[in-house]
Amino acid sequence: MSSQRSLIRQSFNAAKRYDRFAKPQEMIAERLSDITQEKYLKQTPKKILEIGCGTGFLSQRLVSAYPQSSFLFTDISPDMLQRCQEKLGNGFKYAEMDGEAPNTKEKFDLIISNMTFQWFENLRESLQKLKSLLTPTGQIIFSIVADGTFVEWIKAHEKIGASHGVRSFVKAEDLKGADIQKETFRTEYENIEAFVRHLKCIGANTPQMHYQPLSTEERRALKSICEKDGKPHFSYNIIFARIQNK
Ligand SMILES: C[S@@+](CC[C@H](N)C(=O)[O-])C[C@H]1O[C@@H](n2cnc3c(N)ncnc32)[C@H](O)[C@@H]1O
Repeated sequence: MSSQRSLIRQSFNAAKRYDRFAKPQEMIAERLSDITQEKYLKQTPKKILEIGCGTGFLSQRLVSAYPQSSFLFTDISPDMLQRCQEKLGNGFKYAEMDGEAPNTKEKFDLIISNMTFQWFENLRESLQKLKSLLTPTGQIIFSIVADGTFVEWIKAHEKIGASHGVRSFVKAEDLKGADIQKETFRTEYENIEAFVRHLKCIGANTPQMHYQPLSTEERRALKSICEKDGKPHFSYNIIFARIQNK
């Protein structure tokens, strides 16, 4: 496993308070579940593989929507996977798995994932590998954090000439061949410290390589820009996408 991927795995292993702080993730899991059922799935999928199940926000919704289906829940972080298993119980299969190097030969009618593929180092190649695990009529349905996410945070850093540490995210044109729809989820935080805590507590604080932490002076300037109109807002731009095998 690459060093970047083991860092990501470590951060998520340490995210003990994920459920309390991952409100946008929970909302987006709900939306993905609705889009999947209302827009994409005409029939109940027999076999479902979830990549990056985390603590099970999407998994819970899927098992109640498709009680007849068989499920394999996977995550690169054994701790997140264990929390999912504690929530859902032993009636399903669970496996520690890197979604970029899936170690299964099974075929699935649905491969699904909420807010995980933005962590992939090579999205295009990984999607090809996942596609090879689909049944002939199978599909991959996912949400992914997209370009424009945390634009408020990025712009404030640019104003003070500091590096922001936000990873670069996928653009719609990188997902050629997929059926996509974009939505923005804007969340209010008490202050910038609460936003940084949110990222840390959900395990999403692995910054871009070469990130330089802010000095006290820079942090103060950043705070006054972000909080000049009161409580700051930060946005997730999400792409919901569907790729069909045929
Ligand atoms: C933001 S969380 C989302 C979790 C869950 N899907 C949800 O909606 O709450 C991202 C998840 O992706 C997992 N992850 C990151 N990189 C991964 C990879 N290469 N393969 C599988 N899982 C990965 C993390 O361990 C974490 O559980």
